[in-house]
Amino acid sequence: MATNAKSKGALARIDQLVDELNDHSYRYYVLSQPSISDAEYDELFRELQNLEREHPEHVRPDSPTQRVGAKPLDGFATVKHRIPMLSLDNAMNEQELLDFDEQVRRFLEKDGGDPKEIEYTVEYKFDGVAVSLVYEDGRLSQAATRGDGTTGEDVTLNARTIKAIPLKLRSKELPKGLLEIRGEVLFRKKEFDALNEERQARGEETFANPRNAASGSLRQLDPQETARRPLWFFSYGVGAVESSSKSISNLARQPLAAAMAEVESLGFSISPGYRTVKGADALVTAYREAENSRDTLPFEVDGIVIKVNDVELQERLGFRQRSPRWAIAAKFKPVEAVTKLEDIIIQVGRTGALTPVAVLKPVRVGGVIVSRATLHNQDEIERKGLLIGDSVVVRRQGDVIPAVVAAVTASRTGAERSFSFPRECPECGSLAERPEGEAVTRCPNPQCPAKLHNRLVHYASRDAMDIEGLGDKMVELLLEHQLVKDLPDLYSLRVEQLQELPRMGEISSKNLVESIAASKERPLDKLVFALGIRHVGSKTAQTLARQSGTIEKFLSLTSDDLLAMEEVGPETAASVSEFLADRYSQRLVQALLEGGVTPAPVAVRAAAGGAFTGQSFVLTGTLSSMSRKEAEEQILSRGGKVSSSVSKKTSFVVAGESPGSKLDTAKKLGVSVLSEQEFSALLGSH
Ligand code: IVH
Repeated sequence: MATNAKSKGALARIDQLVDELNDHSYRYYVLSQPSISDAEYDELFRELQNLEREHPEHVRPDSPTQRVGAKPLDGFATVKHRIPMLSLDNAMNEQELLDFDEQVRRFLEKDGGDPKEIEYTVEYKFDGVAVSLVYEDGRLSQAATRGDGTTGEDVTLNARTIKAIPLKLRSKELPKGLLEIRGEVLFRKKEFDALNEERQARGEETFANPRNAASGSLRQLDPQETARRPLWFFSYGVGAVESSSKSISNLARQPLAAAMAEVESLGFSISPGYRTVKGADALVTAYREAENSRDTLPFEVDGIVIKVNDVELQERLGFRQRSPRWAIAAKFKPVEAVTKLEDIIIQVGRTGALTPVAVLKPVRVGGVIVSRATLHNQDEIERKGLLIGDSVVVRRQGDVIPAVVAAVTASRTGAERSFSFPRECPECGSLAERPEGEAVTRCPNPQCPAKLHNRLVHYASRDAMDIEGLGDKMVELLLEHQLVKDLPDLYSLRVEQLQELPRMGEISSKNLVESIAASKERPLDKLVFALGIRHVGSKTAQTLARQSGTIEKFLSLTSDDLLAMEEVGPETAASVSEFLADRYSQRLVQALLEGGVTPAPVAVRAAAGGAFTGQSFVLTGTLSSMSRKEAEEQILSRGGKVSSSVSKKTSFVVAGESPGSKLDTAKKLGVSVLSEQEFSALLGSH
């Protein structure tokens, strides 16, 4: 393909934008010192996206646009670690920490030395998932989970979506050879809470703790799903180094703290407060300080990790079966309390999920009074063997939702009774259903009042139809007075009716009617989200709206249409199909439209995320390596369009053997022409 002046200009700008955006990400995710606003970042990102769309041949592998875009996998390949990923021994209290220091000194003494005070590094023990990141010639080439320590799973595509993981090392000259960085992928507390709230609102199971959430998110077969999870990464060490580059070949030979400073300068976050201390007393002080500061951290930690700083001493100390003698994890005390499990009640969510909730005798756990805790589902209660009346251990870590850890079986009196999960919905009496293979039991009745209440609140919420004045209390009032039996009834409410309600005056009634009316013209994505379809959060609703454009098109989406959408996973596709095929939902949407809801159409977008998004291709002549149909599919699967005639808007004409007049038109209009070889190369690089 001819590289003309325009293309060169674009290349320079693309280079500049990629570097600039990566730098901003580094400042945000690693240094925690953002240098531009999110809006400015988005603007630069869009400029880059547009340029890359016009010049797909210049898309760099470390471009921030290339973090997402990969197709779902059937399963993960296995990866054998170059050096096993070991575990750590635990010290559960100060005495055990002192014992560790003594053992280290005794071992070294026996070994012929006379160490008085050992220098240790101190860092937090992250509560996430261990990963190994392999960089070859400075670029991320493979990410793997720890697995059994010898063999893990290849999660490269997922790791690429994590912004705190550099795709390219930060170094003037990229170091040749191989460098393995080890660390932990984790959720921060506030994003974990938000994720669980969102899942609860969608009627999905919540995660018990940030570690499970991180592990589940990293092990998604669909990288687009991982990309939606705000994961972070902190490095705690260096694995294999196979390089003669000056900058990295010495990493494994330096004192640990110096190596970690290098790791930090290559673009990774390391533990906040990372430092070295000398001797047993300083170690204990550091342990106490870390425990006192744990709640100020944005993520969960369950202890600190102490490592001998000097690599020679490390070598002399060596390893036990599965853990090094030169390191230990000093665990913090979990924040726990024992209280009585007074009852188990069932809450019905918006999507009908029946969630068992523990009613606890109020107890203080780590500074917060806890009286309720989710028990997630039926299996969880059985797994823990909980009986009503049991004394139970309740644990809270940092900001995390309290959990019932276990029953104190020793204090049973015989008066405890078992809990039987109701067969019927406690709100409407419908027979509850538990689909095979699922943990959640649901109420199937679309008109169930519990669902209706929650559905109305959701429908009116800010990210949905944004109806001011229609919150939890108001919804309750409307239902209680039978002014509303389902969503569409909102649109026939009159001021006179509302005025009759307790505490409602003329003005507040008028205001409510007006804000309900104002919701009629919300854009399509808001309506799609407001409908409360399972698995459809506001992001997915945007995708669905952008792919359909109008409500009519949305309602006619087929299961195949949904499955073809890159950002929609099979679970979501199934749930949307089910919603669209359901007679009750059809009538509901119809009634909303008849009530005057006219969602503003949304600009249609081609399959998002693909490298050819926004590009149109025209094929002419015969291709030798693939059929016309295959070529079309390849283009479509990358988000591009295929048209039959050439115009000024055509991005590329692909010319095979004996091309027709389309080639002449392309030349006349100045449209780029790709030979079959060039086309194949373009496909190969995306
Ligand atoms: S060092 C040979 N440092 O703890 C030493 N591990 O029980 C290897 N972990 O699988 C680990 N924070 O996932 C180290 N600051 C830290 C850590 C840490 C969390 C995890 C890691 C490992 C497990 C070992």
